[in-house]
Amino acid sequence: MTDSIPILEADSLYHVYESKAEGGNVVALRGLSVRVGVGEAVAVIGPSGSGKSTLLKSLGGLMSPTAGRVFLGGTDLTKLEGSDLVEHRRSTVSFIFQEGNLLGDLSALDNVMQPLRHAGVPAREAKRRAIEVLERLGMVPRMKALPEQLSGGEQQRVAIARALVTKPKLILADEPTGSLDPFTSQSVIKLFKELHKEEDVAFLIVTHSRDVGEFSDRSLELRDGRFVAQHGEGVELDDLTQNRELIVDDLGTVSFPPDILLELGGPGRYSIDSVEPGRIVLLSQDAATAAAAGNRRQLVADCPACGHEYSDAEANRCPDCGSSRPKA
Ligand SMILES: Nc1ncnc2c1ncn2[C@@H]1O[C@H](COP(=O)(O)OP(=O)(O)O)[C@@H](O)[C@H]1O
Ligand SMILES: [Mg+2]
Repeated sequence: MTDSIPILEADSLYHVYESKAEGGNVVALRGLSVRVGVGEAVAVIGPSGSGKSTLLKSLGGLMSPTAGRVFLGGTDLTKLEGSDLVEHRRSTVSFIFQEGNLLGDLSALDNVMQPLRHAGVPAREAKRRAIEVLERLGMVPRMKALPEQLSGGEQQRVAIARALVTKPKLILADEPTGSLDPFTSQSVIKLFKELHKEEDVAFLIVTHSRDVGEFSDRSLELRDGRFVAQHGEGVELDDLTQNRELIVDDLGTVSFPPDILLELGGPGRYSIDSVEPGRIVLLSQDAATAAAAGNRRQLVADCPACGHEYSDAEANRCPDCGSSRPKA
């Protein structure tokens, strides 16, 4: 990453969903910081409920964080309000969600033209640019159709065209290929790659897709509202232990990903065997808990998040929802 002003920078973000229901408030983001350079592609990976969607909405100014600041293109979003916020968003960032991106009463073409018309681009010019992007996504033959007349994959390609047509500097995407078949998904990622390379568009993409993980310059691993680790290019989503770097935050906190914690011997007391710049050795105080093999046998039988029944006694992550597997 360069030292120039990043396209996106967030500092100590917190988000609390207030609730009077049993269980009380939910702290979805716990003081996380992130920097995305101009033209950089960053993936965010993490199990369901870890705060990915909350993060994306906070970063794009769709939701105000409870604490912390977000700079988009060098401007502090948390200081903007009303039409200033809307205008700054429109000129900088586009969103792509997993679904529900389109206006139901407009044709595909009109959906793609709409952000340009909002920005004051004349109709003829807007139409020309919309068709150009629809062409790249293979959607020209279907551009007169209403969203309900299109398949899920087609709708998503239109949504992507709509996000791209304003030539944003940053695209925030929440599981953009989640509802697509592998073939369509590949063509979408190919287009992302082209934009990334040719037009210096930066991406922050929430994903479970291996292809998106591969296309990114780096992947950040989110757990319980904190970034716990970073991975280089081509992260293997089935085995996150590969090329994982743990993150120590500004407060000096390091959160161990659940599988690393399990390997280490679980929660407990550790003595510091040695500390040198860039290196620390921890020793478990409790020999019994260090026996990771012993720990494995005490894991729950069913996933508490989604109910998946573990048949593999050793698995430490749910194959259905990605949640970590707690001890019984
Ligand atoms: N509108 C909401 N009200 C209350 N809690 C919410 C709301 N949206 C999300 N949450 C909670 O915040 C946490 C993070 O959710 P979310 O950002 O959607 O995670 P992800 O996208 O990683 O699945 C979860 O515990 C979720 O239940
Ligand atoms: Mg989500």
